[in-house]
Amino acid sequence: MVCGIVGVTTDEGFSQEPLGKIIKEALKKLEYRGYDSVGLAIVTNEGSLEIRKSRGMIDFVSRKLGFDSISGISGVGHTRWATHGRPSDENAHPHTDCSRRIAVVHNGIIENYKKLKEFLINEGHSFTSDTDTEVIPHLIESFKRKGYSTYEAFKKTIELLEGAYALAMIDLDEPEKIFFARKMSPLIVGLGNRSNFVASDIVAFIDYTRRVIVLTDGEIGYVTPSKVVIEKMIRKEGVITWVPIDIKSRIRSVEWSPEMASKEGYDFFMIKEIHEQPYALASTLSAVGESINEIARVLTRSERVLLLGAGTSYHATLITALLLRRYANLWAEAVIASESRWWLNALGQGDVVIGVSQSGETIDTLRGIREAKERGALTIAVTNVIESTIAREADMAVYIRAGPEIGVAATKTFTSQVALLSYLAVKTGELRGVLKPSLANEIYSALRETPNVVARILKDEEKKASVLADKMSVKNNAYYLGRGLGLPIAMEGALKMKEIAYVHAEAYPAGESKHGPIALVEKDFPVVFVILSKDEEELIKSNIEEMKARGAYAILVSPNNAEEALSLADFKFILPVQHEVASAVSYVIPLQLLAYYTAVKKGLDPDKPRNLAKTVTVF
Ligand code: G6P
Repeated sequence: MVCGIVGVTTDEGFSQEPLGKIIKEALKKLEYRGYDSVGLAIVTNEGSLEIRKSRGMIDFVSRKLGFDSISGISGVGHTRWATHGRPSDENAHPHTDCSRRIAVVHNGIIENYKKLKEFLINEGHSFTSDTDTEVIPHLIESFKRKGYSTYEAFKKTIELLEGAYALAMIDLDEPEKIFFARKMSPLIVGLGNRSNFVASDIVAFIDYTRRVIVLTDGEIGYVTPSKVVIEKMIRKEGVITWVPIDIKSRIRSVEWSPEMASKEGYDFFMIKEIHEQPYALASTLSAVGESINEIARVLTRSERVLLLGAGTSYHATLITALLLRRYANLWAEAVIASESRWWLNALGQGDVVIGVSQSGETIDTLRGIREAKERGALTIAVTNVIESTIAREADMAVYIRAGPEIGVAATKTFTSQVALLSYLAVKTGELRGVLKPSLANEIYSALRETPNVVARILKDEEKKASVLADKMSVKNNAYYLGRGLGLPIAMEGALKMKEIAYVHAEAYPAGESKHGPIALVEKDFPVVFVILSKDEEELIKSNIEEMKARGAYAILVSPNNAEEALSLADFKFILPVQHEVASAVSYVIPLQLLAYYTAVKKGLDPDKPRNLAKTVTVF
């Protein structure tokens, strides 16, 4: 479940804007997580609890239910992505107790909710939704009826929950407090001026503060406009104790500005983020230093390296594994995170498992890291989000510095991942004595050039990508073919086309394409070929010829010195010649642009592709 949650508590004079509008705007920043319903609960200035929720998109629901005009002192909001119970007005959050004085928003899954619901129904509680979440306000109500204070009742409730949750709760009896709890789903506290916040993501409250506390599993507490209380649940041999957390030592300042988290005049986040790649790369590469060299030293001592990732991050792991094998003579393999259990049982001490995840929250990658750790392998996280779950749980963590990525389809985080991991692979080769320092240095300088090269490619190829998109937008199918390092780039290009433009794009090793895929090729069937260096030209030329002989429309992404291959193409992206390691960073750009413009020409919203979510925290 990838719902978004928000909680805000304010002092008088905090803002001229009604709280309903503030919560709505915060929820809009979480839209990228994917949702089908939206809702909020606000303690009004008059002391009542105003709950409004419905199935539908935020702007529509907000207009229908008048979010913007609700004034109040504290409130919670939610974007729901249905798991238990279909998308409907009743199943939308917040959920309440029988007296409708307690309102809860939840991201995650309560695994034991059926048992709890049965117990509560026997106690006389009546339920209005099919959700797992609704047991929570009723449990709190039940404990309060037995004489517990709100906070004690909240803690007692948390003790009973099994599963994953990020929760925010308000109770009319203590209207200035937002109660919260976290286990396995992200939750951040934001420390504002005359206000405090909780949210699934920092972007939700970045207009108000950059001072944050990233909560860890088992933490629970509350905020008032001027106070933060956090405790951690420790469960030992069935006995639960609550340990207070020192707030001061946990406060971090995030570098992201509100402008970085908004569209800055671009039509969509995706195109903004495509254009941010020179900065993301420069920032990621400028931070390359001792921490990544330390990881390279760890790799030189390892027996085997397994890299785990999902979606786009998996493609970055494929490139890294190729480079570790080729440039460091190291046994390395990339595995789709959700399939990793079929590999991890063969690994143990002496092996290294690297989890690559933009968000640092993808559950399949997290589970792989946990299992690898249990088996005694050393685990390393590569993420874009400081203190994300995977980063915290792995033995070592290193960060790309791509800035917030809002578009569901990853772009700038991919190129930053590839740049950082390529540096790591080459450094490992150098330390192992496989790569001569002179060649290693040549590759480092090529990588350092990638921000400039990417800027040039963006300038030169965007118009062309948009022209080709006219053709692609009327196609239903396409192949993306490559060899060696070109194959993961072809796979990433095909994934982008599939996920945002809904064209069935299939990537294949170019040499293998004659063993099946070619059967589908007929006149004007688009086939994209990716060549990263002239060395591959000879072999791929014959693949282009095979496809063209069947009528294919050949699109080529190639360095400008592969003249013969280029002369065969119907449409070409002619890119600067670089070392192939650097080309693996920059040659994906025309394919990102092609997917983006194809989506736009089809009238689709590339930031919010149907059925997809930015962060996937379900198996
Ligand atoms: C989802 C997103 C993809 C992303 C993948 C892995 O499927 O839609 O864009 O590549 O998750 O996410 P991660 O945060 O682990 O890199």
